[in-house]
Amino acid sequence: MTVQPIRLFGDPVLRTPADPVVDFDAELRKLVADLTDTMREQSGAGLAAPQIGVGLRVFTFHVDDVLGHLVNPVLEFPDAEEQDGPEGCLSIPGLYFDTKRRQNVIAKGFTGHGDPVQIVGTGLMARCLQHETDHLDGVLFVDRLDPAGRKEAMKAIRQAEWYDPAAPPTVKLSPHGAGSPFGLGR
Ligand code: NI
Repeated sequence: MTVQPIRLFGDPVLRTPADPVVDFDAELRKLVADLTDTMREQSGAGLAAPQIGVGLRVFTFHVDDVLGHLVNPVLEFPDAEEQDGPEGCLSIPGLYFDTKRRQNVIAKGFTGHGDPVQIVGTGLMARCLQHETDHLDGVLFVDRLDPAGRKEAMKAIRQAEWYDPAAPPTVKLSPHGAGSPFGLGR
């Protein structure tokens, strides 16, 4: 097993856009193996490389008994249909919030060996593919909530026993300076 520690909300690596993979080498395949092992150990539906501290555009997924990975993913939406339902994240453990996503997605990318691959996702798989691709852009699912939902989520995060205020989240737009994440007070 090559299970890695999972970075939690507040770790700047989760807010840093990941770099495209250039070398499809043994190191990349070890990263895929680490992500797969860590995701399965946590019974997660997906895990993106930044969540184990690696800034590369790679994620793994395990949805509806389909286990896989995608390198340098690009999403396409074949229609405008939406879904709404509970979503969570291994980097925001124990918290779930209804999150709107597209119902259908086509994810194009590469395997760890550099072979092109396409995944057609619907429902939960589509949700996972969108969630994990967001991670590669430094976006977390709570960012996708409406303002009221996001405020509720941030409050729950700050009250979570795992949340470490000594490692304050990086906020792109904070009108209140470094001492007050999200401008909600502390
Ligand atoms: Ni996540």
